Amino acid sequence: MPAPALDWQKSTWRALPRVQMPDYPDATRLGEVETQLAKYPPLVFAGEARKLKTALAAAARGEAFLLQGGDCAEAFDQFSANAIRDTFKVMLQMAMVLTYGAKVPVVKVGRMAGQFAKPRSAPTEVIDGVELPSYRGDIINDLAATPDARQADPARMLQAYLQSAATLNLLRAFSTGGYADVHQVHSWTLGFTESEKASRFRDMANRISDTLDFMKAAGLDSAARHELQTVDFYTSHEALLLEYEEALTRQDSTSGKWLAGSAHLIWIGDRTRQPDGAHVEYARGVLNPIGLKCGPSMTASDLKVLMARLNPANEPGRLSLITRFGAGKVAEHMPRLLQAVREEGANVLWVCDPMHGNTIKSASGYKTRPFEAVLREVREFFAMHRAMGTIPGGVHFEMTGQDVTECTGGMHAVGDADLSSRYHTACDPRLNATQSLELAFLVAEELSDLRRARAAMAV
Ligand code: PEP
Ligand code: CO
Repeated sequence: MPAPALDWQKSTWRALPRVQMPDYPDATRLGEVETQLAKYPPLVFAGEARKLKTALAAAARGEAFLLQGGDCAEAFDQFSANAIRDTFKVMLQMAMVLTYGAKVPVVKVGRMAGQFAKPRSAPTEVIDGVELPSYRGDIINDLAATPDARQADPARMLQAYLQSAATLNLLRAFSTGGYADVHQVHSWTLGFTESEKASRFRDMANRISDTLDFMKAAGLDSAARHELQTVDFYTSHEALLLEYEEALTRQDSTSGKWLAGSAHLIWIGDRTRQPDGAHVEYARGVLNPIGLKCGPSMTASDLKVLMARLNPANEPGRLSLITRFGAGKVAEHMPRLLQAVREEGANVLWVCDPMHGNTIKSASGYKTRPFEAVLREVREFFAMHRAMGTIPGGVHFEMTGQDVTECTGGMHAVGDADLSSRYHTACDPRLNATQSLELAFLVAEELSDLRRARAAMAV
């Protein structure tokens, strides 16, 4: 039976088995950094996390759709206003494709402003014959291949906090300061490399502009001014480094509940979801919406225990199940989880992560993801929900606004041999702007097919 939430404190995870977390050699320095972080302001506040929960509850009912995306890992040396703007812009473009194409409000959540810590498949790796501790993300150690650089350094948490605060500051400015104004839809197309999807997006932008002109002429735009000029944009990351998360945990003064102050939504990774482990313990006690990655090894009984532990009150919007099985494996793994949710009568939001089950090593040695496999898993996800009569509520993906060549395929047909030309990720391969747009068009088509099918059933 799950322990009652009453027993929870922000530090109770410390007594439980932990995986994927670093051993800090300097415990004194670690303590100093934790004390310092605990004095800093939280990055988000409870009202925002609650608002996101309400939006995710709507997505779980099929009345909205979650778009969650961004870097696999943010990095200190890739921190720039342009990179943040470009990723934000692609998210807006994708959201526009979904809103316009599928006629559904889109809940926008970045893997941004805190997505630094990474789980790894092995604790060490061999580089040029030398065995080194694995790189675990810039919040923990440095990518450079030397023993010193790979040492876990607590001071990196302070740097990650500052970068997150500055990133979130810019995102908030873009969201409300005019950049996200829908009247700017044409300016979001600047810098497009020519492609069929780019011209489809431009056509759509023209139609949106026409509609806005019509609304203005008819005097209809003033009531909707705020909605047209601003967006709600939320942040999220994997809550992996629990010392950091604990130090930013704050008590909400209105409800007395605890908030993970590091982001609006936090998720538990596929490698750290042990029901009796430290990560589940931390997440169960905070009021934020929680994501849970579900890979091929997730059993129905694991899921039942996790749902009871993470959402004992069955609160809508609290728990998102982010499935990541790999193309061709959805039919094998999804039904038992759908069944478990049905048996428990659990409120969950189903989200498809078509990235993490589709990572391969290319012939040229680069880690990549065939774009075709990414699209295929999305199609399989929608088909499964349609067959089972359940609701596909969102997508979760790794992308960047930069013109990278990390995933093969797509409109511009990135080939194996092209991977080396612009491969910049510190961790997993990301979709570039054109591939992201292509994904958005596919999702919009799937959603409008579903709408049509439901409408046909209703008559
Ligand atoms: C990730 O989202 O970057 C990740 C590591 O995912 P997963 O836990 O699903 O492997
Ligand atoms: Co990743």
